[in-house]
Amino acid sequence: MKELVLGVCLVLGIGACSERPVVPMLGADADRGKDAIRRHGCVACHTIPGIAGPASNVGPPLAQVARRAYLGGVVPNLPSEMIRWLIDPPQVDPQTAMPAMGITEPEARDIAAYLYTLD
Ligand code: HEC
Repeated sequence: MKELVLGVCLVLGIGACSERPVVPMLGADADRGKDAIRRHGCVACHTIPGIAGPASNVGPPLAQVARRAYLGGVVPNLPSEMIRWLIDPPQVDPQTAMPAMGITEPEARDIAAYLYTLD
């Protein structure tokens, strides 16, 4: 089973499968993502390495989010799902407490690029 999972990861190049994923997201920029995270006030609910804030625990801390298997406990932690989640969490999981924050798709790509760098 482990070999199968690894094989799938190798074939698809899924970042979430590796220890330290390199996320192939065309045109995404982690520094712009960091700015977008600041602008949108994500730290009101999340503790995020590299972003000053009140150490909130409304949502999960986003350190090592790349190593999580699922986002919101409902969808696989793939770049495409991360982008979908950031744009409109309730569309991914109607029960989630995370609101849609008015994130555009380019912003979501940049934010995902930043989040996937976090140790
Ligand atoms: C009002 C509070 C709130 C705000 C603001 C908020 N989030 Fe969330 N977020 C949550 C909650 C609660 C969860 C857990 C969702 C769940 O499990 O259903 C979550 C989950 C997440 C997840 C999935 C983490 C995981 O391990 O499953 C990511 C990534 C995320 N948020 C990023 C962001 C980003 C980036 C912003 C800013 C654009 C943001 N959040 C703004 C409350 C918030």
